[in-house]
Amino acid sequence: MTDTPADNRRLFSGIQPTGIVHIGNWLGAIQNWVALQQDYECIFSIVDHHATTVVYEPEAFREAMLEVGIALLAAGIDPERSVLFVQSMVPEHTELAWIFSTVTMYGELGRMTQFKDKSEQHQHNVNVGLFTYPVLQAADILLYKAGFVPVGEDQLQHLELAREVGRRWNRRFDEGFFPEPKALLTPARRVLGTDGQSKMSKSMNNYLGLLESPDERWAKLKDAFTDPQRLRLKDPGRPEVCNVFSWHGFFSSEETIAQVDRDCRTAGIGCFQCKQLLADSMEARLGPMRERAEELRARPDQVWEILHEGGRRARAIARQTLTEVRELMGLPGAAE
Ligand code: TRP
Repeated sequence: MTDTPADNRRLFSGIQPTGIVHIGNWLGAIQNWVALQQDYECIFSIVDHHATTVVYEPEAFREAMLEVGIALLAAGIDPERSVLFVQSMVPEHTELAWIFSTVTMYGELGRMTQFKDKSEQHQHNVNVGLFTYPVLQAADILLYKAGFVPVGEDQLQHLELAREVGRRWNRRFDEGFFPEPKALLTPARRVLGTDGQSKMSKSMNNYLGLLESPDERWAKLKDAFTDPQRLRLKDPGRPEVCNVFSWHGFFSSEETIAQVDRDCRTAGIGCFQCKQLLADSMEARLGPMRERAEELRARPDQVWEILHEGGRRARAIARQTLTEVRELMGLPGAAE
C-alpha cells in the first residue's frame, strides 16, 4: 500500500451538528482545527448524514447545523482558506459510502465500539445507518483523498477501518488510488463537566456553552463541583483534585493559575472567588468569539451562503474522484 505522498497536505475532519457547541468541543477539536489551517489544506464538514442515525426533529436540526457553522466561523475557521460545508450538500459522500460498503465486512462493523455503545443507548432504533456509520466516515475522508485526519482517541478505530477499506478497494481496482490517511491525534485533554465527574457533553447536561453570555455561564459556574473536601472557606483546598482548577488550566494565564493554586491551598480565597477569576479568564477568551457569533447569527443567509460555497468547492473535488472511481469499477458515467 502506498503511503501518503509527501506532497499530500490535505486534511479532512467532520463534526456532528448536535446543536450546542460546548467548551469541551472547542478545547478538544475546534481549537486544533483552527491552528491546523496554517499548515494544511483543510476540508471541514458538518456531518448531517451521520447525525440522522438517531431520531431528530427536522426544524431543530437545520438550526443546529447553522449554529455549528456559526461556532466554527466565530472560533476562527476561515472560509477563504479552508473548505467548510455540510456533508449532504455533496451527494458523492453517500455514493462512495455505498461503494465502500461492498468492500467492508459485516464482522468488521460489528466490532466497532461506537456502534456497540450507540446501539445500547438507542435500543429501539438500531438502524442499518448506525451500523454502516463508519463506512460513510471512510467515504468522507477518502472522497477527498485526504492524507490527514485530526481526531480524538475515540475515533481511531473508525480511522483504522477507513484505511483498511481504502486498501481493500485499491487492491481490487487500482493500487495506490486512495492514500492511507493518518491520524493527527488531538492532544488528549480531559474536559469534565460541571458535575466534575463525567466528560463534558450535551446529553449529560453538564456543559458550559462556547458562546454563552457571562450570565448564563456564571449560573452554571457558581454551582460547579469543586474539591468535595473543601466544605468551609477556612478549609485549605486541593487544586489537583478540583475540576474548576483544571478549567483554569485551559483559560487562565500562568500567573493567575499560580495565584489560584497558592491561595486555594492556603485558604486565602474560597471557591466562589476562584470561580470569579475563572469567569474573567473565560470571558477574555470567549467574549470576542461570542460577539463574532452574534454578528453571524444576525445574518443566517450569509452563513448558509458560506456553507453552500464550501459545498461547491468540495463537490468539484468529489465529482472528480467519483468519475475516476466509476471508470475504474466499470460503471457508466453519471447522467447529467
Ligand atoms: N464520527 C466523527 C465523530 O463522531 C465525526 C466524523 C464523521 C468524522 N466523518 C468524519 C471525523 C471524518 C473525522 C473524519 O466525532
